[in-house]
Amino acid sequence: MSHTMVIFGASGDLTSRKLIPALYRLFQQGRLPTPTRIVGVARSPFTNEEWRNQLAVTTAKFAKHDFTPESWAAFAENVFYQSGDIATDEDFVQLKVLLDTLEANAKTTRVYYLSTMPQLYAPAIAQLGKAGLADDSAGERRVVIEKPFGTDLATSRSLNDSIHKVFREDQIYRIDHYLGKETVQNMMILRFGNTIFEPLWNRNYIDHVQITCAEEVAVGRRGGYYDKSGILRDMFQNHLFQLMMITAMETPVRFNADIVRDEKVKVLRAVRRFQGSDYSESCIRGQYTGYLKEEGVPADSQTETFAALKLLIDNWRWKGVPFYLRSGKALACRTTQIVIQFK
Ligand SMILES: NC(=O)c1ccc[n+]([C@@H]2O[C@H](COP(=O)([O-])OP(=O)(O)OC[C@H]3O[C@@H](n4cnc5c(N)ncnc54)[C@H](OP(=O)(O)O)[C@@H]3O)[C@@H](O)[C@H]2O)c1
Repeated sequence: MSHTMVIFGASGDLTSRKLIPALYRLFQQGRLPTPTRIVGVARSPFTNEEWRNQLAVTTAKFAKHDFTPESWAAFAENVFYQSGDIATDEDFVQLKVLLDTLEANAKTTRVYYLSTMPQLYAPAIAQLGKAGLADDSAGERRVVIEKPFGTDLATSRSLNDSIHKVFREDQIYRIDHYLGKETVQNMMILRFGNTIFEPLWNRNYIDHVQITCAEEVAVGRRGGYYDKSGILRDMFQNHLFQLMMITAMETPVRFNADIVRDEKVKVLRAVRRFQGSDYSESCIRGQYTGYLKEEGVPADSQTETFAALKLLIDNWRWKGVPFYLRSGKALACRTTQIVIQFK
């Protein structure tokens, strides 16, 4: 079986800073199945050689001491670039020609990674469908969607509907990098691989839970993007809620994606909704000094760069145990912590 990962947004920040270094490390560790090809797509007019050379520089910077010219040369043999615009039908026809040529009719799993602006997710998926690139008769087809997945319930539903016109639910990956972090992986092992904790993991023994994601960095050059999002959308509705769900969920009967998801959803459903004075008593929003002077931030912006919430989960395990969630930019230190405070 051969494999192809197609990255839309090939010339962007996420691709060079995270995706290619991660794939390169997997390659070095012998954990990328052979053959795996990586095909980058963006409008910038690179040749294969130009894109590889550019990635060599960025990967050397971001993969640091893991980088060696020899293993990079071996990795880069399977890296290709196709210039294309998501708005142009013909570019998807060309992409299909390239993929068919590279794969030479071998049964191939393809992953389409949308590492591009959120407003391009739905158009890119529609184009994949139109060009026949979602057809999975010659191998599995999957799509990875970066955050943000919509900006509210209505836009998330609308994006979901657009994706489901082309891909089945089991082909869709809505990525959250946070869940790959060691803290999160350790949390699963600590809770579910460790019989000491399970009998203590409830309101009889736990006083409260604190989940903190603090960043030292300010918004930097991403002020324009950040100001439309704010910390509640950027960190809470995805990362912090995921950490809370993993901390609070019941033991899944099996560790498969659907069952773990179902257990997490039960936690979300049990979170007590804010009403009336809860907004002032259980929620703090703040902005760091100097935020209004950041590039791309309007001088009268009300966007929050810090927030703290006190949430209550109304089920037998957690009734009366507050979960304190907090996150902010430009804070005194950088940390991701889950503190379980026993009585
Ligand atoms: N950067 C991060 O650390 C990070 C972290 C988490 C999530 N994300 C998410 O990941 C996604 C990508 O972020 P990023 O920071 O990498 O963005 P970025 O640096 O702005 O990159 C956007 C990419 O999209 C391409 N593009 C733009 N318009 C296009 C079009 N019409 N057709 C084809 N390609 C087009 C751009 O290349 P051309 O101009 O050459 O076409 C570029 O490669 C975003 O949704 C972001 O929210 C990013």
